[in-house]
Amino acid sequence: MNAVIAIHGGAGTITREDLSAAQERDYRAALEHVLLGGQGILERGGSALDAVTEAVFRLEECPLFNAGKGAVFTHAGTHELDASIMDGRSLAAGAVACVKSLRNPILAARRVMEDGRHVLLVGEGAEAFARDAGLETVAPGYYFTEARYAQWRRALAEGRSGLLDHDAQALAARPEAIGARMGTVGAVALDAQGNLAAATSTGGVTDKCVGRVGDSPLIGAGCYANNRSAAVSCTGTGETFIRLLAAYDVGALMEYRGLALADACEIVVMQKLPAIGGLGGLIAVDAQGTVCMPFNSEGMYRGEARAGGARATAIYRPSAAPRAAEEWRPA
Ligand code: GLY
Repeated sequence: MNAVIAIHGGAGTITREDLSAAQERDYRAALEHVLLGGQGILERGGSALDAVTEAVFRLEECPLFNAGKGAVFTHAGTHELDASIMDGRSLAAGAVACVKSLRNPILAARRVMEDGRHVLLVGEGAEAFARDAGLETVAPGYYFTEARYAQWRRALAEGRSGLLDHDAQALAARPEAIGARMGTVGAVALDAQGNLAAATSTGGVTDKCVGRVGDSPLIGAGCYANNRSAAVSCTGTGETFIRLLAAYDVGALMEYRGLALADACEIVVMQKLPAIGGLGGLIAVDAQGTVCMPFNSEGMYRGEARAGGARATAIYRPSAAPRAAEEWRPA
């Protein structure tokens, strides 16, 4: 079996002009570190479930991405985080939403799944469950980063709610980019036993209403895995992904219409999402190890690694531009 992991660190209006060379290096190094963790597990014969858990854990630990440390601010200046995970072998799933004190929401989602009584826990109940499971809690200040704070202050000043992440670098230079950026992190994997898994985690969208829940913790919307079709993790304007059940829809198109993964992804990301104003993308892997990473935004932080193979990362939209050929870069 061709074990493989793919990751994303969020989609958005990420152009070459937005990132300095140093920032691009930082993002690529972070993606490489995340890939290494998941790839290592797969190479040692570990499960897809463990590989996506480790990858999303590492993404949550990295302040560059909108999940865990580095999460965006709500309208009230607080942080509320969502995460989910799904096992394609058994269809077991776990998720947490609106948590404010968990260092790694993805570990809580995994515990919910393993506990087996429920699929989704929210707010204080989710936090109490995670504390009882021995997971690490943090003070609210833990999630703070200057970049997200500046992004939130800017959103407040301009009175624009729903500001999406990955705009901090460009806000000063291109204020019109506000609202065109989105985040979330995720991973999908196929292991040597032929099992698929997906995991997704996010801080949501900047200046969101307190209590708002996006697609990321909703099984079928921002995360889905089924050995019969594919493992999918989404990033983008959550409300549109919820309305389409985007992650599930990729697998459904494969199961019911017999489509290949690439065709199913194309329909969801390039046709169905734009039709309702949906911006973003997804990463997906099928049971044969085919990986697809479509997005309808300007860019998406992403990477892919096969067991025993090279690691590669990319950020921008592929195009006919002269530099496109060098975009998929060995990490
Ligand atoms: N896609 C992440 C969110 O909307 O919360």
